[in-house]
Amino acid sequence: MSRKKTKLRKVAEKSQPMDKNVVALLLKDHRSMKKLMASIKSQRATHAKIFSSFKKLEKLVYSHMKAEETSLLHRIQDHKVFEDEANEGVEEHRIHELVMKNVHKLSDKERRVTQIKIFCEFLEHHLKEEENDLFPAFNKYAALSTRKKIGAIFLKRRKDTQRSGKKIGALAN
Ligand SMILES: [Fe+2]
Ligand SMILES: [Fe+2]
Repeated sequence: MSRKKTKLRKVAEKSQPMDKNVVALLLKDHRSMKKLMASIKSQRATHAKIFSSFKKLEKLVYSHMKAEETSLLHRIQDHKVFEDEANEGVEEHRIHELVMKNVHKLSDKERRVTQIKIFCEFLEHHLKEEENDLFPAFNKYAALSTRKKIGAIFLKRRKDTQRSGKKIGALAN
């Protein structure tokens, strides 16, 4: 394909209405979380860098959890195929909230860094479970039109709960 045609195609793709498939949106948030966690875990990361990445991460995680619950988990919690995973997911969210709150209570910087890194391990495990089990099962089970409807609800809640003005994850263009 010529360079001109490729460029035109890119412009056309950009102008398409946003893909609101909830699973695609959830994965977009997950990718942003993973980037922030990578910068926290980097060998070269200073304390200042770790704290600033964690600040962004916790805002994203908070908003993502709220939107994931409202749009998806609460809807499938009573469904026999999904109830175990959905319930476990919601309870893990509550634990994430507690750990994130606790980090701020620590005055010792070294302990704060250690807890932030442990939090990242919990979070990685949680994301992996969703990506390997829940999301593929839901993709198979629900029609694309349903996933798009739920995606629109997810995006609305994400916008309402994102505490910083920065558009990140599913809210980024
Ligand atoms: Fe989750
Ligand atoms: Fe998630």
